[in-house]
Amino acid sequence: MRFFPTWRLSLSHALLSMLLVAGTAVAADGTPNAASPVHPSSMQQRPGHAAIASANFLATNAGLEVLAHGGNAFDAAIAVASTLSVVEPESSGIGGGFMAVLHRAKDGHDVFIDAREAAPAAVDRKAYLNADGSPNRDTALKGPLSAGIPGEPAGLVLIAKRYGRLPLQQSLAPAIRIARDGFKPDSRLRNAIAEEQKDLQRWPASVAKYLPNGKSPVEGAIWRDPDQARTLELIAAHGDDGFYRGETANKLVTAVRAAGGNWTLADLASYKAKERTPIIVNYRGYRIVTAPPPSSGGVAIAEILNILAGFDLSKMDQVQRVHYIVEAMRRAFRDHNDYLGDPDFVKMPLDMLLSPFYADGLRQGILPDKATPSSMLPRAEAAEPGMHTTHFSIIDADGNMAAVTSTVNYTMGSTFVAEGTGVLLNDEMDDFALVPNKPNVYGLLGSAANAPEGGKRMLSSMSPSIVIGADRTAVIGSPGGSTIITQVLEGILHFIDGESAQQIAAHKRFHHQYMPDEVMVEQGTFDPVTSEALTKMGYTLKQRESWGFMNVVTWDRKTNKLDAASDPRRPSGLGKVQ
Ligand code: DON
Repeated sequence: MRFFPTWRLSLSHALLSMLLVAGTAVAADGTPNAASPVHPSSMQQRPGHAAIASANFLATNAGLEVLAHGGNAFDAAIAVASTLSVVEPESSGIGGGFMAVLHRAKDGHDVFIDAREAAPAAVDRKAYLNADGSPNRDTALKGPLSAGIPGEPAGLVLIAKRYGRLPLQQSLAPAIRIARDGFKPDSRLRNAIAEEQKDLQRWPASVAKYLPNGKSPVEGAIWRDPDQARTLELIAAHGDDGFYRGETANKLVTAVRAAGGNWTLADLASYKAKERTPIIVNYRGYRIVTAPPPSSGGVAIAEILNILAGFDLSKMDQVQRVHYIVEAMRRAFRDHNDYLGDPDFVKMPLDMLLSPFYADGLRQGILPDKATPSSMLPRAEAAEPGMHTTHFSIIDADGNMAAVTSTVNYTMGSTFVAEGTGVLLNDEMDDFALVPNKPNVYGLLGSAANAPEGGKRMLSSMSPSIVIGADRTAVIGSPGGSTIITQVLEGILHFIDGESAQQIAAHKRFHHQYMPDEVMVEQGTFDPVTSEALTKMGYTLKQRESWGFMNVVTWDRKTNKLDAASDPRRPSGLGKVQ
């Protein structure tokens, strides 16, 4: 544990604002966030049927197959994640990592699974700089130096051991079968391969896997992945040892080092998926269970909801409502940049950030009729998020729930396949603040709290969440880089406003992340009058093309009806009720 000077400075600032407003605090719904009990209604009933929404129909069907064989939501999550590794490798896979919020129905236990990648012990910040000291975006995003030690295999093994009902052989069976027998890559995968072709061509094993005959697969072609099938079989047979020790580990380390990377067998052998206490925030009678560090998502969502709890959004017109939501986003992302990192390496002022008192202080600084300029940090340009990360949501017949967001980071991760394993490695190292005050691919700035160190996990925006109300529950999440946080936040607000799974997934979205100081907007979110009013208040609106792949399931306990919706922006997804 260590304290960083920037942290101390910013904390004293924040403490000052707390002291100034102490005494005016109102919790989101009057209860202290951390100590709130499980919503009793979540344990009184079982749905009797199940629902899954994921980014690919083969993955949704794999989850339903495992449920039909007696598995629970957690076994189904293993089936969905491993199948996505085969059929949606541009977004997530066993060469990457995931974060999940699980809710166990029988005792109301909520847990966060941290299967986030970690930096190898030999991480060297100089590797991410050019000779002239400027950021080297190639080593940060492509090839083995961009890859963290994968967390997904360990996370799946942990879920099977502690929460599943079936052995891994059964929950991994659909993925192994699809990898062996083959499937028809959808247009998203074919386009991702074509987009990344130049980088894939740099690594022979990537060419062999993704560019057979030198070309990306054509529509209708059957595509097999026997190396990944073998790696999944080793995990099924030996658990962690099937990936982090022995044959697979040797192949991974040999391939990474031969291509200029610095992984060791010890990095793999020492990797552990972790169970952590989720962040709980109470808002308008709903209990939101979400992602703690090393995700910044839950802290930001809690901070935003705590700020918004002091306003009655339902009585406002759209301009006023958007103004307050954007100002809350801006403040939460400022804290994201300053404070957050891997909890095993940095001490974070979480009590403060999650406190309603702190939110009161932040709320006081919001003017009713003007945007606050984000002038404390230099401007950073955010890239369009490539939508390459994946989220799926599950509720089973007993009311167990899994919200899982999984990623290899940018489109096709590092583009580097480790020879003989079928494993496409992530490029998650870019989620560290590799070069101080220089933005990552999502335009996020970071401080010492998120500086790379051996064994440390890079900060994530992944925000898998479960929202439990008296009569209704939602399991929700999305890809989208830094916009994950605000997309999930807006999804939570829409759910609480009474929207259906389909409406939530389809809803138009907007985003602010402090820097760059602009509101990123999906086309059609605001009518011209609203856009003009927001511009007059001082907002810069910027249209962004690429929004979300939200996969959400809901449970209405009054009617005992489940609903599952996959984002209509991406036709490859499937939400299905069984
Ligand atoms: O963990 C994170 O925050 C990022 N690696 C997620 C990347 C992502 O969502 C890319 N797709 N849009």
